[in-house]
Amino acid sequence: MASSRVPWLCCCLCLVVLGAQAHAGQPRPREGGEEASGSALLGAQPYERLQEHLGTVRALSKRYWRALACGLWQQECEREEEEEDEEEGAEEEGESETVREKQGWHLPVMSEILSSVYCSFGRCCATGDCRVTNNITGLELDLSRRLHGQHLARNVVLKAVQGFLETPQPEKALALSFHGWSGTGKNFVARLIAKHLYRDGLKSECVKVFISLFHFPHPTYVDSYKVQLAKQISETVRLCQQSLFIFDEAEKLHPSLLDAIKPYLDHYDSVDGVDYRQSIFLFLSNTGGNIINEVALHFWRAGRTREEITMEHLERYLRMELLDSAGDGSAHNCLLKENLIDFLVPFLPLEHRHVKLCARDAFLARNLPFTEEALDEVARMMVFVPKEEELFSVQGCKSVSQRINYFLP
Ligand SMILES: *[C@@H]1O[C@H](CO)[C@@H](O)[C@H](O)[C@H]1NC(C)=O
Repeated sequence: MASSRVPWLCCCLCLVVLGAQAHAGQPRPREGGEEASGSALLGAQPYERLQEHLGTVRALSKRYWRALACGLWQQECEREEEEEDEEEGAEEEGESETVREKQGWHLPVMSEILSSVYCSFGRCCATGDCRVTNNITGLELDLSRRLHGQHLARNVVLKAVQGFLETPQPEKALALSFHGWSGTGKNFVARLIAKHLYRDGLKSECVKVFISLFHFPHPTYVDSYKVQLAKQISETVRLCQQSLFIFDEAEKLHPSLLDAIKPYLDHYDSVDGVDYRQSIFLFLSNTGGNIINEVALHFWRAGRTREEITMEHLERYLRMELLDSAGDGSAHNCLLKENLIDFLVPFLPLEHRHVKLCARDAFLARNLPFTEEALDEVARMMVFVPKEEELFSVQGCKSVSQRINYFLP
């Protein structure tokens, strides 16, 4: 089947490249910029007219390429239609456009070849980039089902990410700073974001994870780390405009490494010709964990439920704590001081019942039967503080999934 197509490839390739270039001008992987109407051309200045015209060509070529992709891969097409249906509320034109696409662009065989080449450029998906899925529905679902005891983190993360992805031209990259004791779900949420925003999750070429003590262990080499880090960030964004960078153990990042990151987080149109403003940066750290726990404990002692804790209760203390803390976390805090962090995301300490839910998830994930007693047993293996109340798990849900091994037949 492929052999008969080969002769076509060469002559098609240039067309495809042209199409891809038309796309490169489009700012955002999500829908937008399709509104190039012909009537608006009347009375416009020549330069604007040219721009309008280019816009129309772009919109047409986008539709055309998409239609080609549909012709080749029915599946791809159906998925797109589903997504468009979802967005119909927001985009009234959604349906009629889909219909027009189906009727208007009839597909000769040759176009199938074109589309396969075109898709190999990774531009035949609804987001405009097949590696980027931006599945907010999935993220929301997982955050509400699988993240336990973190109503604040769940809401802040969802709002921040969704708002950012829906902004056609963000002013700066999105930077979230996760704070809380270990085992409270910071890594888990970072993984969920990677999973639902990228087809290949953490393995995506659009996603880079840096663990301070693992990737940058020796302070003496900090200058070389700095160069490498800047290079990795710029190369990743060059390949993938909406990239995700996760910095674990951010409190241990050397100050000069933070200096290397800063320009990418700021409001620049471009750094060395690359636009970083569609990227997402996550900083995970334990700093501020104690103050978060104090607030949670205060609420508990006052007889109030933890769900009553709001960002207003927490943010001021957390901010003060982060800005005050000299030494360890101070480097990380310069991002906060310079307003480069968009959202602080607090992770509350986990209680006995939350650890039980983590244990349940671990059993379910391995398709193992479990009893209420087993869940209780797992939770009892953790250390709880403070001494009097034994309220919060010191390790959160960390290593719960390993602990269930004790309960296997
Ligand atoms: C989004 O994620 C949900 C839950 O994981 C899944 O059911 C749905 O098919 C996904 N949607 C797309 C368009 O991939």
